[in-house]
Amino acid sequence: MPLELRPFDTRAVRLPRLAANDDLPMDKLRIEGGERLRGEVRVSGAKNAALPILAASLLTADELVLDNVPQLADITTMGKLLAGMGVKLGRDGGRVWARADEVGLAEAPYEVVKTMRASILVLGPLLARFGQARVSLPGGCAIGARPVDQHIKGLRALGAEIEIEHGYIVGRAPRLTGTRIVTDMVTVTGTENLMMAACLARGQTVIENAAREPEVVDLARCLNAMGARVSGAGTDRIVVDGVERLHGATHRVLPDRIETGTFLVAAAACGGDVRLTGAAPETLDAVLEKLREAGATVEAGADWIRVRAPNRPQAVSLRTAPYPGFPTDMQAQFMALDCVADGVGRITETIFENRFMHVLELQRLGAQIDIDGHTAIVRGVPKLSGARVMATDLRASASLVVAALVAEGETVIDRIYHLDRGYERMETRLAALGARIERIK
Ligand code: EPZ
Repeated sequence: MPLELRPFDTRAVRLPRLAANDDLPMDKLRIEGGERLRGEVRVSGAKNAALPILAASLLTADELVLDNVPQLADITTMGKLLAGMGVKLGRDGGRVWARADEVGLAEAPYEVVKTMRASILVLGPLLARFGQARVSLPGGCAIGARPVDQHIKGLRALGAEIEIEHGYIVGRAPRLTGTRIVTDMVTVTGTENLMMAACLARGQTVIENAAREPEVVDLARCLNAMGARVSGAGTDRIVVDGVERLHGATHRVLPDRIETGTFLVAAAACGGDVRLTGAAPETLDAVLEKLREAGATVEAGADWIRVRAPNRPQAVSLRTAPYPGFPTDMQAQFMALDCVADGVGRITETIFENRFMHVLELQRLGAQIDIDGHTAIVRGVPKLSGARVMATDLRASASLVVAALVAEGETVIDRIYHLDRGYERMETRLAALGARIERIK
């Protein structure tokens, strides 16, 4: 039976200071281009696995211990969101522990959700364990509308009564009941929300058209360590046999494939020789193939990848797709590589309707890019020239860093709080590879 929870009282919740953008630190990055990256760097744990797994702590009263959790703004935001509900959290380096034995309210307030869409991941666990939830709609974001209708459709199929009231998703569910769900499109966090909710539902749930991302698989591994019965994660058909309750576990978060890919593209763009450790090469097939097409030599072992690149890369064309296709989160970074490559690259974005925000900024650096609908045609130029640019979203900021590393002269990138959401101390690690880069407070 769902626990009786105290009604939501905004005064009771110490909302994190996550006000409008003008409150965010306006750090900048100053980069002097032209260096070739050389050396070795260790990859962090995956942000997009740690976020749903932290939300999964709501599914049990026992302690969940996580290792290899990256130290990122988005992780802090999720921690504050959970703490606001009464979850007890601690952190020591890459280790994070969470215990949801005294959750007093099942709420995700707008002030937090508006800063991080992934907050929607608490919806399924709250409904499954407490039978109620009040989660703000995420609203739009820079790269597109990104609705959550599939999350709601699936939870309603599991028996939740969900209404939209004053911008909030308000849900009630005495007990969820397993069923067959077919999502209209592949959705990563939609798959994760429904998989978590199904763990405590009565009976069996089948999720068809499920996302196959490695982060979905990592979440399933953690849920099964907690006593869930999830099978088929990594395929487009996930089967969950509901259980009465979950218990605590210790789980090591898998390496971040997008951070890995970003370092590899940076090395390939500037003719470098870089070795990444603590990586998961098997999660990057599509990206490694494109790097080889660009002329780089790529070698990989169980947990390392080495890329050696020629002076100038060959232009590559790509089309983003759900995993195991080419990841949309690597599209902007490869566009930066194409900007200085030999030839013309055609880049088609099929997942988000507005994920070309970085084009305007790359053009300020001298890139030759034309947009034709969802396709960018990039004509490589021998040299980009440094300029003042502005980050607009997480992966766009990464693409500006890659471009600045190869541009002639100085580039200053504004609003790098976008970068800090997904990359741990990026400037420190690039500097360790020989880049001339510094953070300006
Ligand atoms: C996840 O976002 C990632 N975030 C994104 O990474 C990533 O770009 C995206 O998957 C695609 O791979 C996390 O995992 C926290 P979707 P998510 O639901 O789950 C539409 C980064 O850089 N859609 O797979 O929000 C949606 O509009 C971030 O770390 C609906 O229409 O993406 C989009 O066009 C950026 N209705 C497409 O599906 C829904 O209910 C894929 O979205 C859900 C999604």
